[in-house]
Amino acid sequence: MKILGIETSCDETAAAVVENGTKILSNIVATSAEMHAKTGGVIPEQAARQQVLSIIPVINESLVASRQSPTTIDAIAVTVGPGLIGSLLVGTETARTLARLWKKPIVPVNHLVAHIYANWLSQPPTTQPAEATLQALLAGNHQPPTFPALALVVSGGHTDLVLMAGHGNLEWIGGTRDDAAGEAFDKCARLLGLPYPGGPSIAKTAMECQISNDKLQMFPRPMIGEKNFDWSFSGLKTAVLREVSHRPLTISHSRLAAEVQEAIVDVLVEKTLRAVNKFKPKSLLLAGGVAANQRLTEKFKFGIGHLAFDIDFRVPPPKLCTDNAAYIASYAFYNYSPSLWQEIDTRPELTIVGQV
Ligand code: KG4
Ligand code: ZN
Repeated sequence: MKILGIETSCDETAAAVVENGTKILSNIVATSAEMHAKTGGVIPEQAARQQVLSIIPVINESLVASRQSPTTIDAIAVTVGPGLIGSLLVGTETARTLARLWKKPIVPVNHLVAHIYANWLSQPPTTQPAEATLQALLAGNHQPPTFPALALVVSGGHTDLVLMAGHGNLEWIGGTRDDAAGEAFDKCARLLGLPYPGGPSIAKTAMECQISNDKLQMFPRPMIGEKNFDWSFSGLKTAVLREVSHRPLTISHSRLAAEVQEAIVDVLVEKTLRAVNKFKPKSLLLAGGVAANQRLTEKFKFGIGHLAFDIDFRVPPPKLCTDNAAYIASYAFYNYSPSLWQEIDTRPELTIVGQV
């Protein structure tokens, strides 16, 4: 089954064609991030206008790149929420129109749950011949994650920890009480004068810091000792603000970036591994833009190496962690509940356990 996925929840306009939930035939992403870099964050109205300009060319390119046409596509999947209302509307209205024109079923998608499905996608082969052969072999052998799974979804707007007993069977066990992990990266980056999106900027600047990770203890780790699986990240930006308002600056930007990254990564790993110890899932799946953070993966691998039992730890490649439509199409395959175009509505406030 070939599904055309459409994603427009924030500042990325994305379309992808995925076969049977795993094989990426095309994955096209246009982003207006550069425009938002000038203002230090997303301006919803501008993001929506950019979506309008990009949506048709992006869908067209995804069909061409996948060598598919409206006749060979079996269904259309579209993000209905959560996200920015103006951006979401561009995707849902386009999907509704195409579903009606092409007479295709349409699958409404919860963007947050869909992020987790990046772990079901096999890697597209690269253009290097030798590597392509190897990757094609690996893609053919790609085993889907096993249930029960524990999934940590860390994106720009959300931080959620969920137990997955199976497809469509999610239980929320924790999340952020205030800012999301990605939001904390973005806001702290702004305070440090680093460009949007803040996560990659902080990660890059942190690499210049020469101090060993275990000495990076400058910022607080809120709620780390509490017996729940919740986080709080809003205090971090206050702590960073205090440091950057010192005149003259006593601490380098690379040190501050490394301190911010370590504080966020530390609490994410600590509390997630506590949940792993309690629920003993078969797999641990990372998802969302922050899952692209190399230090997060490194620290998880270290922690998992010290567990008393085996767990299948998965992190999608960075390009599949950040917003794209391949995981939208994958979600729709594994949670196939087709609707009529008339039934599709936007759901900006949807939660990770909210029904679409
Ligand atoms: O999932 P995503 O692409 O969009 C949302 O659904 O929000 O996540 C975007 C977030 C941004 O906050 C961005 O700063 C963060 O993911 N991010 C990272 C990295 N790459 C993206 N955070 C830390 N390290 C990264 N390498
Ligand atoms: Zn996202």
